[in-house]
Amino acid sequence: MAIQKVGVVGCGLMGSGIAQVSASAGFPTVVCEVSPEVLAKGLASIQKFLQGGVEKGKVPPYVMDKTLANLRGTTKLEELADCDLVVEAIIENIGAKRELLGKLDALAKPGATFASNTSSLSITEMSTFVKRPERVIGLHFFNPVPLMKLVEVVRTVKTDGTALQEANAWCMAVGKTVVSCGDSTGFVVNRLLVPYMVDAIRVFEEGLASRDDIDNAMKLGCGYPMGPLFLTDYVGLDTTAYICEIMLNAFQEPRFAAPPLLKRMVAEGKFGRKSGRGFYDWSTNPPS
Ligand code: CAA
Repeated sequence: MAIQKVGVVGCGLMGSGIAQVSASAGFPTVVCEVSPEVLAKGLASIQKFLQGGVEKGKVPPYVMDKTLANLRGTTKLEELADCDLVVEAIIENIGAKRELLGKLDALAKPGATFASNTSSLSITEMSTFVKRPERVIGLHFFNPVPLMKLVEVVRTVKTDGTALQEANAWCMAVGKTVVSCGDSTGFVVNRLLVPYMVDAIRVFEEGLASRDDIDNAMKLGCGYPMGPLFLTDYVGLDTTAYICEIMLNAFQEPRFAAPPLLKRMVAEGKFGRKSGRGFYDWSTNPPS
């Protein structure tokens, strides 16, 4: 296994999940955040997820112990210098990614691969920020990372075949199934999922059916685990609106445009699960 040690930058929803599955699979994993407070929050969410798994009988206690032993948090990027793979899961902002990749390029060992968990920004553009474009790939995980089985492995025209094979092997080692994909905005999943989610919002906005009937229609009629409005809350309305903007810009197709209701809810601070309010009220359990 070429990849032995893993760095994750960002310990939010996605970064914490990526660090968790990496550490659970036995890879020494260093996860880096901007401040001790944000880092502590991310590490606590990993601990909570593992504890929940133990209580449900899904995670053997020794796996929880092994995961936590393999995991180290830091606020110093330099501590990722000896990692073979660094996965970034920071804010979806190309300027922030440029700054991070430039710093990583200067400190990471030669031959280390840089992966971005971006859902919609260009991996090709990110590869221009470093002196090792052949070692830049996309590794797009899905939320919740420990439970969702897929990783989209994204290559650019410059990606080295060995870097790709090594990343594929690591994804499989952390228990994921890999889908290979070229570098086009939204890759495969968001290209198909985003128009579906925003169409559901349009159907709701038009008053064609109620929130619960739309969600039940897709759950019971198509066997989806969550209805589209519940899923939009789960992903985050702000995140969904942001992805819409990037995809509309890339493809110039109205089907990617954020519906007025989505924009209005974001403006009102209704971001879904993360803010406690979206199409559902998340202050109750289950959401109502
Ligand atoms: N540790 C380990 N296992 C756990 C666990 C924990 N803390 N919590 C739950 N599980 C297990 C459960 O025991 C259960 O296992 P079995 O199926 O073997 O019984 C399984 O995980 C499912 O958990 P639950 O029964 O509690 O919940 P659920 O059946 O409602 O499933 C879900 C939850 C997996 C999230 C499911 O609802 C789902 O797949 N939803 C769709 C999520 C989705 O579409 N995500 C992608 C969003 S898009 C994205 O992320 C990309 C982007 O760029 C926007």
